[in-house]
Order: sequence, then C-alpha cells, then structure tokens
Amino acid sequence: MGLHDTLGRPLHDLRISVTDRCNFRCVYCMPSEVFGRDYRFLPRRELLTFEEIERAAGVFVNLGVRKLRLTGGEPLLRRDLEDLVARLAALGDLDLTLTTNAALLAQKARALAEAGLTRVTVSLDSLDDEVFRAMNDVDFPVARVLAGIDAAAEAGLPVKVNVVVKRGLNEQSVVDIARRFRGTGHPVRFIEYMDVGASNGWRLDDVVPASEIVAAIGSEFPLEPVDAAYRGEVAQRYRYRDGKGEIGVIASVTQPFCGDCTRARLSADGKLYTCLFAVRGHDLRAILRSGATDDELDAAIRAVWERRTDRYSELRTDDTSGLRKVEMSYIGG
Ligand code: GTP
Ligand code: 5AD
Ligand code: SF4
Ligand code: SF4
Repeated sequence: MGLHDTLGRPLHDLRISVTDRCNFRCVYCMPSEVFGRDYRFLPRRELLTFEEIERAAGVFVNLGVRKLRLTGGEPLLRRDLEDLVARLAALGDLDLTLTTNAALLAQKARALAEAGLTRVTVSLDSLDDEVFRAMNDVDFPVARVLAGIDAAAEAGLPVKVNVVVKRGLNEQSVVDIARRFRGTGHPVRFIEYMDVGASNGWRLDDVVPASEIVAAIGSEFPLEPVDAAYRGEVAQRYRYRDGKGEIGVIASVTQPFCGDCTRARLSADGKLYTCLFAVRGHDLRAILRSGATDDELDAAIRAVWERRTDRYSELRTDDTSGLRKVEMSYIGG
C-alpha cells in the first residue's frame, strides 16, 4: 500500500538541510538587513550529526523515499560533506543530489562525485557581475560559479541551473542565461520568486510569471513543451525546437503544484516539515536522541505524513504571505 497523506500523496522526496548558514546573502532568501552580524545561527550541538542524518534517512528510505537532496543554507559549508554523501549513497539505489550556490564547488566536485552523489543543481541568477553581486550580495565574480559548474560536469555529475527571477532585478538576465547554457546539456530552470519565510519582504508585484519567461525565451529561441520526467516534478519543461536542449519554469506562485507534492524537509536541527511554507515542524532529533528504536522513528514519521494536509501555494493570499513561516535557509529549499 505504501504511505500516503490525507490527500493521497506518497512520500517520495526528502530534502535534508545540513546547515542554516550561507556564504551568500540573496535578497530573496537571506537579506543582509535581517541575516547580519547579530543573526543567531544554529550552534553546532543543535545540528544533527552525520550519523543521525544517516539513520533518519535510512528510515525515510524504508518508507518509500527515493530521492534525497542536500540543501541548506549552503550545504558545502558543512565540513566533510562528502562523508555524509558516502553514507547516504550506501542506503540504496537513490537519486542523491545537492542544491548549491557553487562558490565552493570547484574544489569539492570530484570528492562529491566519488562519494556517490548522482547530480547537482547550481543556483545562478545572472551572468552580469553587477546584477549577480547586487542580488546575491557577494564580492566575487560570476566566473567562480561557472568554474564550479564546469568542475561538476568534468567530474561526471549532471548539472541543472536554478535562476530565481525577481522583477526589476534580473529579468534582463533571463534570455542571456538561456543563451549561455543552450547546447551545454545543463537544463536551466527559472523560478518564480516566492514568499518563503518571513523576512524577504515579498510582494506579488515582484513576481515575474513563468508564462512571461517562456514567452521571452521562446521569442528568441523557439520552444515546445515536454512531458514531466516524473510525477510531482515541480518544473514545467520545454525544449528548444532546434534540439539544443531544454529549460524549465517553476511556477509555484502563478500555477501551484501542491496536488502532486511528495516532498518532506528535514531541517539542520532535525525537525520534520511537510511544507516549504510551514510554520511548525516535528522534532525528530528529540526522538533520535532519546534512545528510540528505528521502529519508533518510523512510526513517528508515518504519523506525521498520514496527517499531512498542506497545500500552501494553492491557498496563498496577501494575508498568508505575512505568516511567521520558517526561513528557507533553515528548512532547506
Ligand atoms: P529536480 O529533482 O531536478 O526536478 O529538482 P527540484 O526542482 O525538485 O528541486 P530544486 O531544489 O532544484 O528546486 C527548485 C525550486 O523549486 C526551488 O526554488 C524550490 O524552492 C522550488 N520548490 C521545490 N520544491 C517545492 C515545493 O515543494 N513547493 C514549492 N512551492 N516550491 C518548491
Ligand atoms: N523564491 C524562489 N526560490 C527561492 N530560492 C531561495 N529563495 C527563494 C525564493 N524566495 C531558491 C534558491 C535555490 C532553490 C533551492 O531555491 O535559489 O536555487
Ligand atoms: Fe544562500 Fe541559497 Fe539562500 Fe542564496 S538562496 S542565501 S545561496 S541558501
Ligand atoms: Fe508542497 Fe507546500 Fe510547496 Fe504546496 S506549497 S508544493 S504543499 S511544499
């Protein structure tokens, strides 16, 4: 029968945050006014250890999870991440991936691939150094991210590129990025700016609808739609009619996809969240550290998923965007 929530959705995908820290301060995720010097990140003892993550992930895999994604914050800030990758790779035949800003990817790609990572997704919002520095609040050039992408590809890792589009900031970069990655084999996915967390000052006017993005790229490079690769894929895919690859759009604001949402999230301090826009999580760390057996952990996760009703993006209004939702850098994008 398998495990399903109240709306019949299976649990297929677990996103694991390994740190709430980041070496970027993206305006749409960790604005520096909020995440400045005084911000209190999680102290080390609060973080799940690699042993605890491995154990929890093993229980999720037994419950039907087939995709594990390491996120953060910036996951490459967690020391020896490749050791965790090796432990998770040993759990079975899984899609084992990583979402990163790639600042540290050039030096890490080979070790991650050798440890058993199956692919990687790199966030990159502009090819223009000035826009990149403004939107991501970093003091190095785009070339460093591109070097990370190249190193991953050379290490044999398939690469996807994620672009968050925010009105007035990087909409001019959309076609440039599509052009740059056409023919490289790296699909680019353009993401509608979302009201995650409680500190990015989200306004509906800042969202560039996916339809507008597809029209802009399509007018330069003709596109046609492609079927989803799997149930619950968040990106709508398009391919270039001339065969030079594909792009995707993630329209979680204008075309929500909660009906097929099979994702759970484990925060760096071991709380289980059943929606990206949740206000509260369930404390698995307390269970892990209480001497509970795997069966007890299994029962706790099952109980949470079986009661799950989340479909935030379908219910979003001006009022809900002001809820005290947890931050994306904490919950794991
Ligand atoms: P693939 O496995 O390559 O298809 O990746 P993915 O699209 O599942 O994951 P990725 O981490 O690349 O996410 C891309 C964007 O989609 C990010 O901005 C996510 O925040 C957003 N996203 C992913 N899952 C959800 C979700 O469950 N709800 C909403 N609203 N957005 C999501
Ligand atoms: N809206 C849309 N996407 C976001 N991401 C982070 N914050 C937001 C937001 N407010 C993206 C990151 C990364 C992915 C996991 O989520 O850029 O690519
Ligand atoms: Fe860091 Fe990613 Fe958030 Fe940007 S989106 S601040 S790179 S965690
Ligand atoms: Fe899933 Fe929540 Fe996103 Fe809907 S809003 S797709 S339920 S994570």
